[in-house]
Amino acid sequence: MCERDDRGRLVLRRHADVVAVAHDPDTFSSRVSAYRQIPNGLDGPAHRDARHLLDPFFSPPRLERLRPGLEDLARSLVPAPGQVVDAVAELGARYSVRAASLWLGWPAGLEDELLDWVADNRAATRSGDRARTAAVAARFDEIVHALVVARCATGTDVTAELIQTRTADGRPLHEEEVVSILRNWTGGDLSTLALCVGVVAHGLAVRPEVQRALADAPDEALAAAIDELLRIDDPFISSRRRATADTQVGECPVATDELVVLHWPSANRDPRVFGDPDAFAPVHNAAANLVYGAGAHVCPGRPLATLELVVLVRALLRTGRLCLAPGAAPERETPPAGGFRRVDVLLESV
Ligand code: HEM
Repeated sequence: MCERDDRGRLVLRRHADVVAVAHDPDTFSSRVSAYRQIPNGLDGPAHRDARHLLDPFFSPPRLERLRPGLEDLARSLVPAPGQVVDAVAELGARYSVRAASLWLGWPAGLEDELLDWVADNRAATRSGDRARTAAVAARFDEIVHALVVARCATGTDVTAELIQTRTADGRPLHEEEVVSILRNWTGGDLSTLALCVGVVAHGLAVRPEVQRALADAPDEALAAAIDELLRIDDPFISSRRRATADTQVGECPVATDELVVLHWPSANRDPRVFGDPDAFAPVHNAAANLVYGAGAHVCPGRPLATLELVVLVRALLRTGRLCLAPGAAPERETPPAGGFRRVDVLLESV
């Protein structure tokens, strides 16, 4: 069946179709926005060059340098046993904003503005109103732009390093390029990470046996469990591609210039690949897991997101047993937003 959304775009939900399109960037371009998006909206050699320049910012040694700061941050945010917190807005959003600020060397004074922005961005996504989403995106650009302009380019943090970065042909990045990169490193991902914290906290709270198994597990096992919880309930909903030629996906024809939607959560629950989509099987499902995308545009921030989530989950599990707060049913987000709007949790002493 060829499903089309209210804007006539073909929506791909089958794992095989999503993977095929993600791995064919020549036929399915990422130039889907009027705005310059680095690296998200680039294709071909320009995209390759941008990834080559930017992927090293997520290298293991760099991220290891971040770990002690993240651990302090996680410890400071983990609630005391018995205290109820909303895992999305209180724990997840605050952690994601502070972790990104720590990584990028942004001032702590920006926290409230960024938290307001995350809340507005979630509300705009929930509304499905494109003008509202565009206005929220423009406001983020202003925040980042003001930061970059105010920056002294001699610092040693990641923002300063980015400003000092030279392209392959030796020129410095233009201010608009730096803003675009920082936007794509933070913008939606502050909200995505907050949603991921909600999904993972919920997934662990309803699986006490998984919590027990992870109590003393190494980072790799914790990361695999987190990836699997996110596969089961993927809060990153969709990506778009534009056809560069008349083509076909499965049995569905696609005309040149038509937009197609890759629906990651459906692909991640495709029973043809995962059998029972709710079965928790981190090792078995890892290779087909699409939480961080696939192909040339696969998420470069995955190692950072994984480290942030592993550090936070470890701090939670060390403090107590994660439970849903009694009498407060989790509230799902409204499509097209994913994950939970609110998940009240608490830690029980063990
Ligand atoms: C929090 C969990 C995260 C999830 C679930 C996630 C998921 C994804 C997915 C599915 C894609 C593929 C999009 C596509 O194919 O069009 C993607 C791309 C991307 N992600 Fe993430 N991401 C996360 C965190 C991050 C973080 C922390 C960063 C940076 C600090 C980041 C930066 C990016 C960028 C720049 C791209 C575009 C890559 C390209 O077009 O080459 N992501 N992400």
